[in-house]
Amino acid sequence: MIYAFLNQKGGVGKTTLSIHTATELARRKRKVLLIDADPQGSALAWSSCRDDPRFNVVGVPKATLHQEIELLVSDYDDIVIDGPPRIAEVARSIILATDIVIVPIQPSPMDVWAAAETIDLVQEAQIYKPELRCVLTINRKIANTAIGRDVRKALAELETPVLKTDIGQRVAFAESAAVGSTVLEQGRSKARKEIERLVNELRRQT
Ligand SMILES: Nc1ncnc2c1ncn2[C@@H]1O[C@H](COP(=O)(O)OP(=O)(O)OP(=O)(O)O)[C@@H](O)[C@H]1O
Ligand SMILES: [Mg+2]
Repeated sequence: MIYAFLNQKGGVGKTTLSIHTATELARRKRKVLLIDADPQGSALAWSSCRDDPRFNVVGVPKATLHQEIELLVSDYDDIVIDGPPRIAEVARSIILATDIVIVPIQPSPMDVWAAAETIDLVQEAQIYKPELRCVLTINRKIANTAIGRDVRKALAELETPVLKTDIGQRVAFAESAAVGSTVLEQGRSKARKEIERLVNELRRQT
């Protein structure tokens, strides 16, 4: 299965959710490859901080990704692609390569508007690739805020399914990444539960 975290907007959580999804799939004994498709190389930098790599991470920040992935796909159970912000050519290549596009969105109107651009790219591809799935996932939700509660209503205008699992605003995501780790490797926590539920839900999408 190929999962791609994609949003043309920067800083929405593509890398955070990619490394967590890849780590959780590897914890479930899946053979996982994480592709860093962002020239910023954040996922590669994260993996270079780790002393015990549980899965391979490669950098393919190119518009030829959909071709290169064909050589890799048979070696893995799952591939997770961490998409770049802004670069539409690479985004198109990722969309061609993947089975499901997951668009992380923060609960703010700017994020809802910005996501429309990524969804347009996906819909363009779905004309030729009707089996391509696309879902939205809410990231950095702040508990007990009006915007957190209302974001689902605002997302309805994008006419794209929204995953049930919300990922909260939790400092553990940033703190664990800083040391090449994840919230999955630090004992039980709300953050860990959210990622486990997210991955359960993603695996049911296919
Ligand atoms: N749920 C969360 N709770 C707290 N901090 C978060 C959460 N998700 C992401 N962050 C933080 O927000 C920042 C941006 O996240 P991240 O790098 O994953 O976004 P991105 O979409 O990959 O950005 P870019 O477009 O630049 O690649 C990081 O500092 C990250 O640690
Ligand atoms: Mg990133």
